[in-house]
Amino acid sequence: MFSSTLRTSARMASRASVRAFTTARAAPSTKVYTSLAAAGVVSFAAYQAAQYPVRLEGAKTIAGEKGTASERSFVMIKPDGVSRQLVGKIISRFEERGYKLVAIKSLTPSPALAKEHYIDLASRPFYAGLVKYITSGTPVVAMVWEGKDIIRQGRRIVGATNPLESDPGSVRGQYAVSVGRNLIHASDGFDSATKEIGLWFDEAELSEYEPIAWPWVMADN
Ligand code: RTP
Ligand code: MG
Repeated sequence: MFSSTLRTSARMASRASVRAFTTARAAPSTKVYTSLAAAGVVSFAAYQAAQYPVRLEGAKTIAGEKGTASERSFVMIKPDGVSRQLVGKIISRFEERGYKLVAIKSLTPSPALAKEHYIDLASRPFYAGLVKYITSGTPVVAMVWEGKDIIRQGRRIVGATNPLESDPGSVRGQYAVSVGRNLIHASDGFDSATKEIGLWFDEAELSEYEPIAWPWVMADN
């Protein structure tokens, strides 16, 4: 577990260095953090916190530019969505709305990745069960979607956290009844989209292209 944490740290470290991104605050060099983590002086979470949010120069991050058609969100179909064979139906909702699929992969996340993804909930009583659910061995489908207002609209497509409170037209409202098995995740803000896309994907995995209908969907006049 600890060695896999270090491997993840090393991978994230090399990823951060090739991107020529700047970080929001000055951090000790990656090499220093990796050796401190190896010595148990800093935690993986502290290492991660020093790396994020990953920002490009100016207003643009790996999540594009907030409020423009380049805005991106991290969306993940959870293991229950994969096991229940709802992947195609869920993807269709984003495609049919006109959003652009920028990246997609199926994987079983490591505990370190799942813990970091949900680190803001670390003090909640359901955190351990949530990590166990996400890392169950049935894969998740991790995606990046792009387009106008994708972060807010993605949350509307997904629905309220508790499926019993979700709009019936949302994914959770149509297909789920339990908060602990609510099928899908979507970034809840621009900073979390920036963190999450950088956490789950290498920049080289994100495609730059224009779908043929893009101007018909995104133009304002
Ligand atoms: P997500 O991050 O997965 O998109 O969900 P969310 O924003 O709608 O809700 P959040 O508060 O971030 O919670 C993350 C996930 O934790 C599980 N949860 N279980 N048992 C509980 O009371 C409880 N509360 C939250 C859910 O899987 C939720 O999606
Ligand atoms: Mg959340």
